[in-house]
Amino acid sequence: MSQNLHNYRRSYEKGTITKDSVDPNPLQQFRTWFYEAKDSIDGGEVNTMTLTTIGLDGFPKGRVVLLKEYDEYGFYFFTNYVSDKGKAIEANEKVSLSFFWPVLERQVIIKGRASKTSKKVSDNYFDSRPLGSRLGAILSDQSSVIANREVLTEKLETLEENYKYKTPTRPDYWGGILVSPISIEFWQGRPNRLHDRILYTLEDYDWKIDRLAP
Ligand SMILES: Cc1cc2nc3c(=O)[nH]c(=O)nc-3n(C[C@H](O)[C@H](O)[C@H](O)COP(=O)(O)O)c2cc1C
Repeated sequence: MSQNLHNYRRSYEKGTITKDSVDPNPLQQFRTWFYEAKDSIDGGEVNTMTLTTIGLDGFPKGRVVLLKEYDEYGFYFFTNYVSDKGKAIEANEKVSLSFFWPVLERQVIIKGRASKTSKKVSDNYFDSRPLGSRLGAILSDQSSVIANREVLTEKLETLEENYKYKTPTRPDYWGGILVSPISIEFWQGRPNRLHDRILYTLEDYDWKIDRLAP
């Protein structure tokens, strides 16, 4: 059953970053990289990111979620608040977000504190979703064990019937999470594994910039 992947490697040669070339504000730097990734990724989901939380069992767990917005306060995604990740965040606000954009040989790793967004932010996003996604959010008891798929399809049929003539509103257990960064690392692959790593750390409301060894 063993498979040797020792030869799976490539030389990274697509770019460079230095402490002087990056923006003094990591959110601006993120914006630049995000748009460069968007322009380079053909049909791919540039906004997929891995959210890592520390679970109630003490183990870290990563899973993909979609970045839906970012601004000077941080990074936003939407989820079920009583899901595994929702409960993990409730108990421990410290989380990590990471992006890997292979086409540009770039990685971004964010550490931060997660908090629920305002109801208004959650409502606005919920209301902007297609009906099917809104009903999906309402019906899915995310992360709970279910007997089979029919449980979901039956619930969906009932909801479709209930909401035939009225607009669904956001349930309290679903909404936005804001991750307010305390550090952001930008990683650019370089030849011979001598990659560029530029780390921003928040210190007294200012961003300190360091280079890390690869
Ligand atoms: C491409 C992709 C995008 C996803 N986007 C989201 C998302 O924005 N929000 C979300 O709650 N789950 C999203 N998921 C599902 C999560 O990865 C995960 O299965 C789900 O949130 C339950 O995780 P949990 O049990 O750890 O809470 C996405 C999965 C993939 C593969």
